[in-house]
Amino acid sequence: MRTQILGSGFVTGQNLVTNDQIARMMDTSDAWIRERSGVETRYYVEQGTTTSDLGAGAARKAIEDAGIAKEEIDYIVFATMTPDHYFPGCGGILQDKLGLPHVPALDIRQQCTGFIYGLQISDALLKTEQARTVLLVGAEVHTGFMPWTQWDYLLGRGGEPPTPEEKAVYTSFRDRIVLFGDAGGAVVLRQGEGDKGLLGFQVHSDGANFKDLYVPGAGFARRPYVNEADVREWRHVPEMNGRAVFKLAVGRMPEVVRELCKKQGVPVAEIDLLIAHQANLRINEMVQRALGLSNDRVYNNIQRYGNTTAATIPIALDECRKSGRIQPGNLVCFVGLGSGFHWGAALMRA
Ligand code: UT7
Repeated sequence: MRTQILGSGFVTGQNLVTNDQIARMMDTSDAWIRERSGVETRYYVEQGTTTSDLGAGAARKAIEDAGIAKEEIDYIVFATMTPDHYFPGCGGILQDKLGLPHVPALDIRQQCTGFIYGLQISDALLKTEQARTVLLVGAEVHTGFMPWTQWDYLLGRGGEPPTPEEKAVYTSFRDRIVLFGDAGGAVVLRQGEGDKGLLGFQVHSDGANFKDLYVPGAGFARRPYVNEADVREWRHVPEMNGRAVFKLAVGRMPEVVRELCKKQGVPVAEIDLLIAHQANLRINEMVQRALGLSNDRVYNNIQRYGNTTAATIPIALDECRKSGRIQPGNLVCFVGLGSGFHWGAALMRA
């Protein structure tokens, strides 16, 4: 018996936002963003749409795709770094929004590796018969991190442009802000007979350099955990040492894929499709080269959605399943690295 994907689905924020629109808020350009990250567009939610809303939208699609009744779900695993509230997590809120029975709902926070950790946990729950049908969700609303207030102007709905002083402040966050989008992805998982399904996992964590990508404020390391000084000094916006994260990603991702393939006894060259976390197209191109995989063996969609953290892998997976990029018998490898730092890979026989 192996854990198999019964269904998948995703939703995005309501508003498609181009690089040119972002360039209205800060000193950046479509050319820079495309060249350095590959991102062309991303989606932003309307204010009031939350991570659990996107998770619920994705989950409904995944449940429909699986062809099961929602009541068959007996465990929820929800991965996000942008929960609706500091507590409780989104899992329970999702359970209520979907109108599910009182099933267990587990929140995990492994950021960009959340979906891979979630697959591993779901597989363990299913194999040990703690659950029969798991709903695994990865969803994010990153727009809460955006430093600006002129949303109407950004979205072309009138309003006032930022002042030159405000623009200068927003520009100080441009390396991070241009990368992210809002979306949710979900899969329904169940054990099934045959060769098809999840084969194995390799995950790691190293907290030593967590400050290379973290939110310095809005946490219980300080009293009160949200305070005026933190907001005034922008400590509620993530800090990132982009070059350090880039270097880590291009080293750790191929390394963990090789480690997993060795453990599973399959040559890297047998991977039919690599679905990597979508943080930067340049990172993924370097990972592809390091693994010696041809273009037809990798899938990227960061161009359209930007980095949606826990949602990137389920979105790419859903697109590949539905477009025929994944064929029966294919060996599919998922890989990601994110804040923590956490990184990992999973192998699946389609
Ligand atoms: O999901 C995991 C989370 N994050 C990541 O994986 C991110 C990993 N890192 C990256 O993707 C890249 O480091 C970035 C895309 C964030 C930045 O690209 P880079 O090629 O490493 O640029 P850089 O930070 O070295 O900056 C180069 C220049 C700087 O200007 P000067 O000092 O050379 O004059 C930056 O100020 O580019 C400037 N810059 C920008 N210019 C226009 C940085 N961001 C922007 C921007 N628009 N958005």
